[in-house]
Amino acid sequence: VVGRFPDTRWLVTGAGGQLGRCLCDSLRGIPGRALDARDRSELDVTDAEAVRRAVERAPGGPPHVVINAAAMTQVDLCESEPERAERVNARAPGLLAGVCKAVGAKLVHVSTDYVFDGAGSRPYREHDATAPRSVYGRTKLEGEHRALTAPGALVVRSAWVFGPGRNFVRTILEAAHRHLAGAGPGLRVVDDQHGSPTYAGHLAAGLVALVEQEAAGLYHLANSGAATWWDVARAAVDAWGHPELPVEKVRTEDVPRPAPRPAWSVLDVRKAERAGVSLPSWREGLRAYLDSAASPLRRAGGPG
Ligand SMILES: NC(=O)c1ccc[n+]([C@@H]2O[C@H](COP(=O)([O-])OP(=O)(O)OC[C@H]3O[C@@H](n4cnc5c(N)ncnc54)[C@H](OP(=O)(O)O)[C@@H]3O)[C@@H](O)[C@H]2O)c1
Repeated sequence: VVGRFPDTRWLVTGAGGQLGRCLCDSLRGIPGRALDARDRSELDVTDAEAVRRAVERAPGGPPHVVINAAAMTQVDLCESEPERAERVNARAPGLLAGVCKAVGAKLVHVSTDYVFDGAGSRPYREHDATAPRSVYGRTKLEGEHRALTAPGALVVRSAWVFGPGRNFVRTILEAAHRHLAGAGPGLRVVDDQHGSPTYAGHLAAGLVALVEQEAAGLYHLANSGAATWWDVARAAVDAWGHPELPVEKVRTEDVPRPAPRPAWSVLDVRKAERAGVSLPSWREGLRAYLDSAASPLRRAGGPG
């Protein structure tokens, strides 16, 4: 797309989220690229008429590339509000696909490891059988299918994303800070779920690179290497400068949640690598996040 159009217009939906904010950072200020960034208050992706207006009647003409970073990502809330999850995660990608098809724009949609049942034992490939076990996973899978109805659409699955916003790394560092201040319990983190932790900044750059490679269809993209949540917590607390702080290992069944968590979420990213796009290791991703302007370590007095 970029090669074919020297001047490209990009629309990013869900621009206020972790990935959306990083996408805007990646796209802003690059000569030849015009960015229309819409957060939820500026474009509700479930509103068919608003979506049509944003794409078909965009000032300066319809976008060449539409990246949908909007989603209902609170997996437990999806269990209690399945209709909303269905509207945002499943139907909205269909609305976007329809308008992208109408104006010839490329749709880029982001999905998740939750489309798998988590019973795997080797990294998941793009065409491994899907079997979501939660409302979040089921609605995201439906969203993939609908997004792919747009010609040339790119659907990218990622996992365990952290970046500017609420995420596991920030939650752990806040809990560690409270504990050290004598105001909270010790850290207990699950060590029997394996995944591909991914920094939203690296994911955003990789998505843009895949578009530049004219990739279409289904891809997996994540920071390289596998980890458990305990590994991520330990690395974050160490990076904060508190290697002495104990982090207790617990099992998934010790912390029951409304939505089942996949035990195995490691993504095979070799297809993206073959397209020339690979992301650094998850430890480098963690370092980049903790060094970024949005780092929870930058708040006055520490992560609390
Ligand atoms: N976070 C993860 O661990 C993870 C893992 C794998 C894949 N993904 C996928 O990666 C993508 C980006 O996720 P993220 O981590 O950046 O999530 P995020 O921080 O929760 O961002 C999602 C954004 O979408 C917005 N949104 C919700 N409903 C909307 C609507 N109807 N219209 C417009 N915007 C709406 C949210 O706004 P509000 O905050 O106001 O609701 C939020 O700003 C999603 O497709 C997600 O499924 C995420």
